[in-house]
Amino acid sequence: MQSEYVKRVGEYTNDFFDRRGRRPKFFIKTYGCQMNVRESEQLAGMLVAMGFLRNGSENGSDLIAYNTCCIRQNAENKTIGNIGLAKFYKETNPDLTVVFCGCMARQPGYADYLQKNHPYIDIILGTNERWRFPEHLAAYFNEKRSFADISDAYGEPSDYGVDAGVLVSRNHRHKAGVSVSYGCGNFCSYCIVPRVRGMERSRAASDVLAEAEALAQDGVRELTLLGQNVNSYNGEGSGIACESVSFARLLEMADGIGGIERIRFLTSHPKDFSRDLIDAMGSLNKVCKSVHLPMQSGSTKILEAMNRKYTKEQYLGLVDLLRASVPGVSVTTDIIVGYPGETEEDFCETLDAVNQAGFEGAFTFIYSKREGTPSSKIPYDLREETVKERFERLIGTLNLILLKKNESMLSKTLAVMAEDDPPGADGALTGRTDGNALVHFYGAASPGEIVEVKITEAKTFYLVGERV
Ligand code: SAH
Ligand code: SF4
Ligand code: F3S
Repeated sequence: MQSEYVKRVGEYTNDFFDRRGRRPKFFIKTYGCQMNVRESEQLAGMLVAMGFLRNGSENGSDLIAYNTCCIRQNAENKTIGNIGLAKFYKETNPDLTVVFCGCMARQPGYADYLQKNHPYIDIILGTNERWRFPEHLAAYFNEKRSFADISDAYGEPSDYGVDAGVLVSRNHRHKAGVSVSYGCGNFCSYCIVPRVRGMERSRAASDVLAEAEALAQDGVRELTLLGQNVNSYNGEGSGIACESVSFARLLEMADGIGGIERIRFLTSHPKDFSRDLIDAMGSLNKVCKSVHLPMQSGSTKILEAMNRKYTKEQYLGLVDLLRASVPGVSVTTDIIVGYPGETEEDFCETLDAVNQAGFEGAFTFIYSKREGTPSSKIPYDLREETVKERFERLIGTLNLILLKKNESMLSKTLAVMAEDDPPGADGALTGRTDGNALVHFYGAASPGEIVEVKITEAKTFYLVGERV
């Protein structure tokens, strides 16, 4: 049924062409995680199918969509700082349509706030309503009346009459993400995701695999399976057995897709990392030896307050098991500094855990109070300077580890998949190792090609090498 609306908006874009002598252009500004990146590709695909052309920036666009994130206050601030630009462009281009979608829009009362304070926004969509985008655009172009659709409906594209395979416009030819589940039911005490994305829903294995197959046929070499907690994936199976499919089994099935050379997955929750999954990582050829395993804190007391459901020892035990079972595995993490009640002792436990785990990479965040989460109700007793100072110490500790890890790669020859970034000023190309380390290398390679690179230089955040 969306195809009917795609056609209708297509008539609008044809009419636009007749009036203005060119097709309308769109720009999507994406904030947040890989899931949002993937969902922006879907929005872009729908726009292309409706006759819009992709534009490189807000400037000169006839439709600007903000696909937003509210995981931390600074993510929201960036968005709010940026949408003012749309207001400015709207003053010079009366045809400009402004769309606000994603997680920020799903916060209780937020759509009302936007309509009151940012009246130049035309369409407000939640996260699951993106498949009705053609319908909403058709209604908007017909009536020129602003509105919001932020319900928490959920369905596969086919439920909305959308051919997902056709309606996706990817950012990269050689790599793509595929969501295996939506939402999250873990309710970590600080986290807004369950509130804005709803409870966890696993997609049927057949839907995930069909999407992955279609991507492989379209030239994708590297697949990233996406979910807030991929390890708890439990999808409906198909065929005679009709049993549910675990994440380890899903990986095994994805490993059989021809044309795919690398499979990654994001994000793993330590509490659900099963033995089966470790075995699958060890035995499946295409599955990268790389795990993003957010630790959040090294203090068992803070972990408990965060509702993470593992202790420091259990976390470090899992890292040891991974390193022993999957030789050469790369373990990266997320850490929050300044959770309410974090003492100097708690923080030292985090530094100790960081040293013991020897991470290959880490994203570090300062705690941000999110309205409606359990931790937002705890009185905040930490001074800003204390948190900043801890944050700096954490980064200092991490950077020493990263540099040492990278130095251990010197003079090794690694398999690197070339990215599609333009070459640097010195002609160096960019690529990623199986462990997801960033490599700048000299020598020719086309995007998606896996080449052998000898490492000649090690920096904190990247390696330098030459194709051999
Ligand atoms: N589902 C994933 C990650 C989700 S968000 C997981 O649980 O591992 C990505 C990261 O943002 C989290 O791992 C956490 O480190 C950080 N984060 C989430 N909420 C936050 C908050 N309120 N303040 C600071 N960092 C936060
Ligand atoms: Fe948020 Fe926790 Fe779910 Fe991750 S696992 S999305 S941190 S509630
Ligand atoms: Fe942000 Fe929503 Fe992802 S809050 S991190 S865009 S799930």
